[in-house]
Amino acid sequence: MESFLIKGGVPLRGTVEISGSKNAALPIMAAALLTDEPCVIRRVPDLSDTRFMVQILQSLGAEVTFENGTVTVHAKKVRGYADYELVRKMRGSICIAGPLLARLRKARISLPGGCIIGARPINLHLKGFEALGAKIKIEGGYVDATAKKLSGSSLFLGGRAGPTVLGTANVMMAATLAAGVTVIESAACEPEVVDLADFLTAMGAKISGAGSPTITITGVKKLHGAEHEVIPDRIEAATFLIAAAATNGEVVLRGARADHLRAVIDKLDEAGVSVTRRGKNLVARRGGKLKPVDITTLPYAGFPTDVQAQMMALLALVPGISIITERIFESRFMHVSELARLGADIEIEGPSAIVKGGRPLSGAPVMASDLRASAALVIAGLAAKGATQVNRIYHLDRGYERMDEKLRKLGARIERVEEK
Ligand code: EPZ
Repeated sequence: MESFLIKGGVPLRGTVEISGSKNAALPIMAAALLTDEPCVIRRVPDLSDTRFMVQILQSLGAEVTFENGTVTVHAKKVRGYADYELVRKMRGSICIAGPLLARLRKARISLPGGCIIGARPINLHLKGFEALGAKIKIEGGYVDATAKKLSGSSLFLGGRAGPTVLGTANVMMAATLAAGVTVIESAACEPEVVDLADFLTAMGAKISGAGSPTITITGVKKLHGAEHEVIPDRIEAATFLIAAAATNGEVVLRGARADHLRAVIDKLDEAGVSVTRRGKNLVARRGGKLKPVDITTLPYAGFPTDVQAQMMALLALVPGISIITERIFESRFMHVSELARLGADIEIEGPSAIVKGGRPLSGAPVMASDLRASAALVIAGLAAKGATQVNRIYHLDRGYERMDEKLRKLGARIERVEEK
């Protein structure tokens, strides 16, 4: 297994190119199953998750190519049965269910396992499919959804933690080919949902309200092929903004969209990090002494849960008490114990982490546990004195394209090594 070996203490300086969004690309790649015509999807980040989705689409019978950030999908014929082992390994693969149900009136996928950050149930996805007329059977670790006919319906899709991003994506995709009008209340408002809606519209779907809590889909008979460029990855952008602040550097982000980062930029501003626009780019640097802040993760446009761990790494460096409350997932503090190995002083109180910041961090071997926790450990390692080895970096490669290369170009002393 590979690790990152980081020698901290170097302020990051220079320009970084933000890749396409993983969380937009995955459902958009799945949406190509809705038509028997070829689709071209550009600016797809080259990650293990997107490569996995290519394999899943191929296992369903689609012809798929992935070169230089462009994915072509031609699902002339598709099977409704996805490879158990493949689907089980990646939560994001659940978003093939909606397109398969719409295209074939049946979908058989393995129940996506939970992961380290929480149980990750799919009850809301299934509630949405049933509202459209599907029969759901759960047996032997599989979900079988079948429907003689899909009919539009009005449904409330909010769950215990608010909207569901991939649940909204799945029901919206299924509804594009259902007879009649579907209204999704308490729909997720994330930019990735809007990007999917844009792609579906380019395919001939009739969708309004994407980006708002109420999305209306009027079913059509057939969808055609389309071309689309994926939006930039707002979570990768937030990660680099925070890394610039943590290392007291100055980093120019090329290709990021400030309008997708308002809550993050607002919170960084409150903490004393200056994020300004320079033409089409964003520039991050410390605006003076950093201040402790309180953060609560919320559905979009609130502070994103996918940036919680990275902010914790920054706030561990800031003298004073910062309180971070995680409201989306039930156990997304796996990074706390690893940050403590670098010297951070953080206590967990139920859904909140109390960060007593200001103690200088010193390098140590740490273990990545999930995608964003790994990013937090890299940020802390970049700021810590001495050497930090972040092990099991495969977690990070799931969602960050060539992060070590991008950081090296910003002056970081980081290299990818085989774990001893
Ligand atoms: C998407 O996951 C993202 N993944 C996650 O990013 C992100 O953290 C999450 O949205 C929240 O923003 C992709 O887009 C591939 P949810 P998703 O359904 O859609 C509960 C990353 O780091 N829930 O919005 O699976 C659920 O347990 C990843 O890039 C139900 O109760 O998340 C959670 O508490 C991690 N029933 C909350 O809703 C359901 O049927 C939000 O989950 C579905 C979800």
